[in-house]
Order: sequence, then C-alpha cells, then structure tokens
Amino acid sequence: MLEKFSNWKAKLQNKKVETNNIENVPKHVAIIMDGNGRWAKRRGLPRIAGHREGMNVINKVVKQANLLGVEVLTLYAFSTENWKRPKNEVDFLMRLPERYLSVELPKLVEENVRVRLMGCKDSLPSHTIAAVDDAIEKTKHNTGLVLNFALNYGSRDEIVTAIQNIAQEAVNGNIKPNEITDTIIAQHLMTKELRDPDLLIRTSGEIRLSNFMLWQLAYTEFWFTDVLWPDFNEQHFLEAINIYQQRARRYGGI
Ligand code: FPP
Repeated sequence: MLEKFSNWKAKLQNKKVETNNIENVPKHVAIIMDGNGRWAKRRGLPRIAGHREGMNVINKVVKQANLLGVEVLTLYAFSTENWKRPKNEVDFLMRLPERYLSVELPKLVEENVRVRLMGCKDSLPSHTIAAVDDAIEKTKHNTGLVLNFALNYGSRDEIVTAIQNIAQEAVNGNIKPNEITDTIIAQHLMTKELRDPDLLIRTSGEIRLSNFMLWQLAYTEFWFTDVLWPDFNEQHFLEAINIYQQRARRYGGI
C-alpha cells in the first residue's frame, strides 16, 4: 500500500493536487458520465463528437482509480432509456465499447483491470456484446480494478427482475416470504458480487439519479459537479475523493 501511495504521490506531484488520506479511498466509485451532448453543442459539433470525447476520458479515470487503489469503478455508459435517442446516436454509442476496447484492451490486461458488464445483454447489438465478452474473457483472471460497464442498464428493470426471480423461488418452495431479506434481494441484483458504491459522481450539473443503482446507492456519498464529462479529468476525480474523505458516513447511526 505504501509503495502504491508514494508512486501515486510522485505521479501527481507535478499536477499540484493533494489528497488527505490514502487509507480512506472509496472502494467502489460509480459515475454518471453526463454532459457529452452539451459539450458538443457548445462547440457547434454533432452530439456524437461529445460521446467520442467522453470515451477518451474513461482512460484517465481508469488509470487514476487503479493508481489510488479503488477496487470497483462503475460507469453508466448507456441506460435502458437511452434507446429513445436518434438512431444515429444510439448506433454510435453502441460502437463505443468496441472502439474503446480495440485500443485499450491490451493496456487493461497489462494493468490488471478486470472488465465486467452490468445490464441487459438481450437487446444489445451482437458486435457490442462480442467486444465486451472478449474483454471479459481476456481480463477474467485479473485481480486489480474491476471496470464495471453499465450498458443497457436500468435500475427499476433490475429490481423488477430480481423480484420476479425471488417470487419464482417462493412459488417453487425454495424460499418463504418471511425469509426474504435485503441480503437476498442484493444477491439477485446485477451487482451481486460487488460491494455497494461508496461514492457516486455525476457530471454536468444535473442533480438526479436517472434510474441508476437505486438499491445500491442507499448509503453512498454523492458528489455533483458542473463539469461536463468530456472536460472531466484526474484533478476532478481527486477533488471528488477529497470531498468524500471529509464526509462522516454514519449509515443512519450517530
Ligand atoms: C450522457 O450525456 C452520456 C451518455 C448517454 C453516454 C456516455 C458514454 C460515454 C461517455 C462513453 C462510453 C464509452 C464506452 C467505452 C462504453 P448526454 O448525451 O445525455 O449529454 P447532454 O445531457 O449534455 O445531452
């Protein structure tokens, strides 16, 4: 840990960013990457240019999360509601995983990152699934940062499916209604082997959850910033972590 800390400090020295406490780094950081469209519009560019730029930010955040010792980084890349966007934008977004992974996968493998998917695979195009499955397969033995892509993810759908599955288990006689606990519900969610997020970041000034991890965010610390996702960088990420470290997490206690 100490070696990682000095490494990290050294790398950040020329960026003049300080952090408080290497021991209190959030273990799971979830990010709602918002503002790509506005970023593009301000430059007179098509919305997809904002998404392309947004894709490039992922690298910076992954690198830094890995360096800091974050264990899970969940990125909201496409929601179940995003299908309502114009077809050309949806098609572009569905190409981003393969664009990103075609360049970055060797580095992710080398940096001990494990790729994971959270979302409904059924309606994703086969080329998107193929790219993500390939990354999952090639990184499955990695033990470092878990890079959890939320793709075609919607929290209400996730909860509905969990309830349906638990109800079926009850009908089959495998569980009694009074044996259903929050742990049982958590075990039926798409995050079943992950801890809940410690820190949620949302960019672009919007203060809402947009159907993202509604169950898992029950005790998460939130940090909202006006910065648009394509402008988000390592310093913003550290700022969020610094603020997280100043929060007293009480989980309903005193
Ligand atoms: C929201 O901004 C952003 C998205 C719906 C897409 C986010 C995706 C990426 C940043 C890249 C994903 C890359 C990979 C590799 C999966 P918006 O378009 O709603 O912005 P606006 O609110 O300004 O219109």
